Amino acid sequence: MPLDSKEQRRILGKFVTGVTVASTKVGDETWGMTANAVTSLSLDPPLVILCIQKEGQSRIKFEEGGCFALNILSADQQEISDRFAFKGPKDFSDLDATTAKTGAPILNGTLGWVDCKLKEILPGGDHDIFIGEIVAGAAPEEGEPLLYYSGKYAKLPS
Ligand SMILES: Cc1cc2nc3c(=O)[nH]c(=O)nc-3n(C[C@H](O)[C@H](O)[C@H](O)COP(=O)(O)O)c2cc1C
Repeated sequence: MPLDSKEQRRILGKFVTGVTVASTKVGDETWGMTANAVTSLSLDPPLVILCIQKEGQSRIKFEEGGCFALNILSADQQEISDRFAFKGPKDFSDLDATTAKTGAPILNGTLGWVDCKLKEILPGGDHDIFIGEIVAGAAPEEGEPLLYYSGKYAKLPS
């Protein structure tokens, strides 16, 4: 008998993560999605993973975009996380953002970012696993990260 999905969430919610805004560009349109199912996968070649739920609008955008950036949010960027997780505009036209190599939006004021070419999409149940090859990146800001723990935002203890 598989684990109840609420129980799976409760248990895995104990695994604290940072919070990113994953971004892409499809033609002239930019698109963002708050994501914590991300990880560094390989150093040689430099690869990261981004897991995207199959249902919803984001999956197809990231496939069509053929690229993505991961913007690692700081503790004072919870509002940006909420915007890209819940009801709010998904484009970056009103935000302080630049681009690097692929054209995926890079938010200013984050702790760091990587810009990736989409290399492969693997199936993962009700999510798909997007593997990105890093083509540019930086960690410009020192500061506190935004965390996610037990279904809530959290901060490092001061
Ligand atoms: C902290 C946090 C982390 C999230 N991580 C992911 C994630 O890794 N993958 C995902 O598909 N959705 C994740 N979500 C949910 C998406 O941000 C949310 O569903 C978003 O609105 C995507 O739009 P869509 O459902 O239209 O694709 C997360 C939400 C929050 C608040």
